[in-house]
Amino acid sequence: MARLPAGTPLASLLFLCVLSACRAAGSGGSNPTSAVVLPVSKDAAATQQYVTGFRQRTPLVPLQAVLDLAGATLWVDCDAGYASSTYRRVPCGSKSCRLSRSVACATSCSGPPSPSCLNDTCGGFPGNTVTHVSTSGNIITDVLALPTTFRPAPGPLATAPAFLFTCGSTFLTEGLAAGTSGIASLSRARFALPTQLAATFRFSRRFALCLPAAGAAGVVVFGDAPYAFQPGFVLSNASLIYTPLLVNPVSTAGVSTKGDKSDEYFVGVTGIKVNGRAVPLNATLLAIDKQGVGGTKLSTVAPYTVLETSIHKAVTDAFAAETAMIPRAAPVAPFKLCYDGSKVGSTRVGPAVPTIELVLGSEAASWVVFGANSMVATKGGALCLGVVDGGKAPRTSVVIGGHMMEDNLLEFDLEASRLGFSSSLLFRQTNCNNFRLG
Ligand SMILES: *[C@@H]1O[C@H](CO)[C@@H](O)[C@H](O)[C@H]1NC(C)=O
Ligand SMILES: *[C@@H]1O[C@H](CO)[C@@H](O)[C@H](O)[C@H]1NC(C)=O
Ligand SMILES: *[C@@H]1O[C@H](CO)[C@@H](O)[C@H](O)[C@H]1NC(C)=O
Repeated sequence: MARLPAGTPLASLLFLCVLSACRAAGSGGSNPTSAVVLPVSKDAAATQQYVTGFRQRTPLVPLQAVLDLAGATLWVDCDAGYASSTYRRVPCGSKSCRLSRSVACATSCSGPPSPSCLNDTCGGFPGNTVTHVSTSGNIITDVLALPTTFRPAPGPLATAPAFLFTCGSTFLTEGLAAGTSGIASLSRARFALPTQLAATFRFSRRFALCLPAAGAAGVVVFGDAPYAFQPGFVLSNASLIYTPLLVNPVSTAGVSTKGDKSDEYFVGVTGIKVNGRAVPLNATLLAIDKQGVGGTKLSTVAPYTVLETSIHKAVTDAFAAETAMIPRAAPVAPFKLCYDGSKVGSTRVGPAVPTIELVLGSEAASWVVFGANSMVATKGGALCLGVVDGGKAPRTSVVIGGHMMEDNLLEFDLEASRLGFSSSLLFRQTNCNNFRLG
């Protein structure tokens, strides 16, 4: 990282910081709104990532990014033709820089000014949570525009004039879905989308995530909005089941500072049942220990649910015992337990297989997983239990992956620190593709 040029007058630095603090503070959204929306699609190709689109810069350009429940903020590739008249650096000593917990400062750059070449600019560590590659990059702000309505088409845009994000590089986008140029973080971090949008538009720190299956459209709704589905079904908050969101005391990010908490979303799974019967598990693995190891988190970049080896074996064995009558097929990697798809019946909520219940705290709050979210159809016609072995000593024992969350409405309420979940919307004869707003 570049160093402060010798002889830089301290007074001029301070002056810049004061100016920029004003700029950061005056960043209210231009149009009052109670909710903004990100459309979501699933990359049907190998990555299986969930992709969203929004507009950024001046003039506005459409961009796509991978959605991630982890991460510190939005990062986009600033190397590839970033053109905008409204980007501004976040100076090193500024309030926004401190709030972003930056420990780096890009003091000087000798090339022509551009988003990735600026003097006295707060530094971040954009990370690719798919490939686990991180780099350093400038923290800057620019205009961000998101739709305020959804269905039949994304509607009028709400504009955040100075949305803070980090500049990534072209190489950092390797491993991301084609057409995407970064990752949009939905984490609990100060400058991830939920908290930054809430501060900009003055709505609640709350978002609902409704992930679609491949070929359909889903949505992330930030703020205060009814959960309305076509043609006239509203999912009230009374019909969601709530469980506390837990904070892992140790950061799970690629780059972090000692003492940092994790920005990811953990929930208190205390047991797992298959067909209503408790699976014998080592309870120690389900708790988060002082080193931040263990527990259960949600991840949109894990395509399937990942279980620590002993949990994976116990769940797979229990599921196999409950389905002894269904003809098997040879395992299809990365899965261990597969069936002849033509011999499995079907229901409104997917293949007719035993339920898997994630018991959350008390027995009253169970996330019941049906066939549509537990089973994966493979190209060869096999139907496999969609859980993956995460090895003997993973950082987190249970990672609830994207497939298990699809067509479930999940409300992440950061103010009340709780997760609301609907279980499968297919039961209510709707799905994420039918979500509408406005
Ligand atoms: C940074 O400051 C130096 C010294 O004032 C100047 O020569 C250089 O052009 C500046 N760089 C940028 C990117 O503004
Ligand atoms: C549901 O939403 C209503 C209106 O926003 C609110 O008054 C009520 O407290 C909420 N109930 C729960 C269980 O969150
Ligand atoms: C349960 O898991 C913990 C943490 O990995 C381990 O130390 C302990 O030996 C395990 N207990 C049993 C009975 O396997």
